[in-house]
Amino acid sequence: MGLVPTMGALHEGHTSLIRKAHSENATVLVSIFVNPRQFNDSSDFEAYPRDEAADVRVCGAAGANLVFIPSVEEIYPDGFQTTVRVGALTEPLEGAARPGHFEGVTTVVAILLTLAGAERAYFGQKDAQQLLVIRRMAGDLGIATKIVACPIVREPDGLAMSSRNMRLTAAQRAAAPILRRALSAARARYDAGERDAEVLRASMRITLSAEPLVAPEYVSCADPDTLRELERVAGPALLSMAVRFGAVRLIDNEPLP
Ligand code: PAF
Repeated sequence: MGLVPTMGALHEGHTSLIRKAHSENATVLVSIFVNPRQFNDSSDFEAYPRDEAADVRVCGAAGANLVFIPSVEEIYPDGFQTTVRVGALTEPLEGAARPGHFEGVTTVVAILLTLAGAERAYFGQKDAQQLLVIRRMAGDLGIATKIVACPIVREPDGLAMSSRNMRLTAAQRAAAPILRRALSAARARYDAGERDAEVLRASMRITLSAEPLVAPEYVSCADPDTLRELERVAGPALLSMAVRFGAVRLIDNEPLP
């Protein structure tokens, strides 16, 4: 069995995970659970898009055999008091910006992996830190499920697919490909031979500063295994960023070879 854990509001990014799972497993189980414990901001939890009927249709069309849509009480019954917390990997970037977020993610993913007992579980590379943290957790806890990483799926204009994109206004949506452009600008500097990580971070900041609708939260050029900020890029690295368009927070990343 292949497990595709989701929070619903399924888009092409999710269907690529389901299709990959379908190509590698006899049975594909998709879970849809908007996990309250991973939202550090309750208004973000309330505003998170939900459309179960449409999601179930998308799952079927992409090759899922089973859809698991538990209630909050089923996942966290009365008396629940366990938290799964990964260490240093959860501290920078998303962890610094969203206190408690990764504890919520690792707690629910540990529950879902344990319940499903799947051979493989599929996660998107857009949430690069989440992927690293989940891999670490599964390894540390001896969870046998293989964690499979799947590439970012983008709109034709370069915006990474995200359930949050549908909350952007028309003007914000038109401006949102700036994330991709900022990553591409840094990537171009890297391809031209630049190895000073601060110069790469600065080129992302400069590109973002041209767009008045965007409020950058962080830009990063980090070690892809530890997520510590680099001074020089001497091997593989991860460029990443989080920005806000009003109340909508978007992330994106680009690995450097
Ligand atoms: O990436 C997501 O959609 C969520 O963080 C996940 C992995 C389904 C856990 O709730």
